Formats: sequence, C-alpha cells, structure tokens
Amino acid sequence: MREERVLLTDAVLNSPSPSAKTPPRTLARYESQPVASRFDRSAWFRDARFGMFIHWGVYSLLGEGEWVRSHQEISLEEYEPWVERFDPQHIDFDDMALLAKKAGMKYAVFTAKHHDGYCMYDSAYSDYSSVKRTPGRDFVAEFLTAFRKQGIKVGLYFTLIDWSHPDYPAFGDAFHPMRNNPSFKGIEHDFDRYLDFMHAQVREVCSNYGDLDILWFDFGYGDMRGEAWRGTDLISMVRSLQPNVIIDNRIEESASGFGSIVTDNPTAYSGDFVSPEQLIPPQGILCEDGTPVPWEACITLNNHWAWHHSDVDYKSSTTVIRKLVEIVSKGGNLLLNIGPDGDGRITRQTRTILQEVGAWLDVNEVSIRGASSSQLSKPEWGRWTQRGNMLYAHVLEQPIGPLPLSGLKADDISSIRLVREDRALELTKSWLIEAFDEPFVSLGADPAFTYPLADPVDTVIEIKLNDPESGSTINQTNIEA
Ligand code: GLC
Repeated sequence: MREERVLLTDAVLNSPSPSAKTPPRTLARYESQPVASRFDRSAWFRDARFGMFIHWGVYSLLGEGEWVRSHQEISLEEYEPWVERFDPQHIDFDDMALLAKKAGMKYAVFTAKHHDGYCMYDSAYSDYSSVKRTPGRDFVAEFLTAFRKQGIKVGLYFTLIDWSHPDYPAFGDAFHPMRNNPSFKGIEHDFDRYLDFMHAQVREVCSNYGDLDILWFDFGYGDMRGEAWRGTDLISMVRSLQPNVIIDNRIEESASGFGSIVTDNPTAYSGDFVSPEQLIPPQGILCEDGTPVPWEACITLNNHWAWHHSDVDYKSSTTVIRKLVEIVSKGGNLLLNIGPDGDGRITRQTRTILQEVGAWLDVNEVSIRGASSSQLSKPEWGRWTQRGNMLYAHVLEQPIGPLPLSGLKADDISSIRLVREDRALELTKSWLIEAFDEPFVSLGADPAFTYPLADPVDTVIEIKLNDPESGSTINQTNIEA
C-alpha cells in the first residue's frame, strides 16, 4: 500500500504553538536518530536565525584576507615577522559583543584557529599562539567571556587544516602555501601524527572553555574529508565533552556540498547544519526526501572574511535585512561576518550597518526569531515567513491600492496587524477586488488609495491564521513512502 505523507514545513516544526507539539503527521525520519537529535540540538539555533562571524588573527595585520599565506605562497619564516608584530591594542570583545547584541545577533562564532595554524587560545600542544607569543593574551577566553556576558551564544571556528605544522602535507597539497615549492618535495611527514595533534587541540578547546554552543569546523576537500580526519573519533570525542554543541557539515564537506546530512544515512560527522557560503540556496536546503535540513549561510559584510585594506564594498543595511528575510523565508540562518583590522579596530561602516539592521530587528523581531519558511509560494511583492500560526508578509515592493494575500482565503485569517505601527489592518471588502479569489488587505481607510509603505526597507504585516497549516497547497509537497 502506498502511504501518502505530507511534508511538515519548517514553520510547523519550529512552531511553539500547542498544536505543533502534538506530533501528528510526523515523518518517520524525524523520529529516527540522528535526524531527531539534530533537530533537538539545533532548536535554539533555528530560533535565533541571526549570528555574528568574526574572522580575526595574525593575517589581519597583512590586510589581504585570511588566505594570504596560501594566495601569496608565503613561507612560515616569511610570516614570522607578522606573528612577532601581532600585538593588537584595540581589540575589545566587550564592545564587539554589545555591537552584536544591538544588531539583534543571538550567537557569535570566532576564529579560534585558522589555516595559518596560529592559535588564538592557550594550547598545551603548540607555542604558536596568542598566549605564548607577543600579545600574551587568550583571545578565545576574552571572546567567550564578553559574549556570554551579553547572553549571546558562543561558537568557535576551528580549522582542520594547519599550514604551520610539519606533518601537514605541503608540497602538492591543493592549498598549502608551499604546495609549489620544490624544496618541500619529498619531505617526509606523518599525517597520523598531525591528526593526533589536531584531535588533541580540539579536545582542549572542548575541555578548557566551558560549554560551547557551536563548533564550526572548516573544511573537507579532495580526499581530506570524513574519515581522513578520523571524523567518527573526532565527533564522538566532541559529543562526549560537549553533548549539546552543534556542528556544521564541513568535516565531510567544503561549502560547495551538503554531504550525507541530506541523505537517509548520515554519517556520525555529517553535522547538525549545512553551511553554504556567500550565497543563499535558491530553494533552501532539503533532504533527498524533501524534509527540511537546518542550514546557515555565512556571508561577508564586504567581500572578505578577514580584514582587507582596500575592500570598501560593504553591503547596505537594506541588503542585509532583506537577505536575512530571504534566508528565514527559506528556513535558514544568517551568520554575518565582520573582520576587525590587525590592531582590532572595527570600521565605522561595519558599526553603522549593524546598528541599522538592529533598529529594524527591534521592531520586526517577531517575523524573524523562531520563524521559518511558509508553505505559501513566494508572493510577487516580497516574502513570507511563518512562526506557528503567525504568518508574516514582508512587503518589499510598493503595492498599488490594497495588497493581495495570494494563497490564502479570507476564512484562514483571524486578524492582521501592521507590525511597525502596531495597528490593526482589515481585509478590504471593496468592489475593486470582486473579480479576484484572494483576500486583499488595505494599508489605510480607503482601499482605492495607495499608501506609502510604513518602512521602505521591509514593511512587515502580521497575519494571524486560524490554522498554521492553512494556505495554498500549491507549494505543499506530498511525498510517497
Ligand atoms: C571559506 C574561506 C575561509 C573562511 C570560511 C568561512 O571557506 O576559505 O577562510 O574561514 O569560508 O566560511
């Protein structure tokens, strides 16, 4: 017998409403491990929707991004003067945490260790760190203290790669700064010894800094993925030390793929969320069977992760807000990056953009936090987000006269509110709309009038539905067992 099963939208899965707590048309896979635990663990994360990424390290001094050693094929010796010089006087994690909080960011991820191998924390296994070298400071500890103080969840970026370690493959590797240097050809290295070292460093990060909310691993490439990193051991160690931590999918993948997290048979190290980079997936991210997968788009504020001296191509706050809305409308999170300079300063543009995003979120938070995709198709004037039986119209384009609520029926709607003005709106009964099936909402008293949008960036209208699953069936996927 063929069993008809209905896709649960992310909005329903996320829903805090009592009706969503009864597990009615639940797909079997949500009850199975590790998919169910992935959803449990990531509940706060899917609720938060917006976080801060911080790329900062020795490389910030060179002002050419964090890949500078690889791109310019800089040897360890040539990099050493920068390591010696790295002594930031203006880094202020309290200030950064406040900036994140005012921007409406609920979590932050800081580069504990990037590919250059320099640790921003105290490692018993390496002297190549901010504690043992010039600054004599534990920046990971400073970051964690400051952000936790603001009630912001904390994550550490930790790369699996290490261009400073003699046992990491150099000559012929895809990215190592010495990949083309003939003097590295034939140099013996013991990758197992490297893996012991890397695992030991992950162990200390997981042991010495209290509860971490996210471990953000970077990244699998070529043959270097999954078990090549001894992924199963790595993850079982991480999970035993940090049972609630959530991890990305990059032990198995780079940003270019999803990995087994989207299949019926995810590996132990497939992660809790997919991490697309510098793009927003056109359809969000779904499992092969159509069920939603937690995901997070990491996106730079200008065009670089770490500080770049000539990059002034910042995204406007309007762009950031609208992209956050787009991401939430597709069931994802936005991890927005900032890159302080080598001395720890944050640019004026960065501050202004984040403040403006925060001002919008202050008013419209209900439409983002805990919200997700709706089963309605994308409306021509903007986007939908949904949280339980609360549907949010994000009106990005000025309507003429009343706004069509396509995909809904008048009976689906219990009440409507213009969020910015906290003002009730009515469905129009005007003769103007008689020829159309969908309900229309008027932004003012006379439905024939065109009213300016309350917020040209994104005017949010809250629509209380009688049933969280009401609405169009056009976009509702029925899948077969
Ligand atoms: C890319 C970059 C890396 C950065 C990461 C953040 O993989 O190469 O440097 O840390 O994105 O997602």
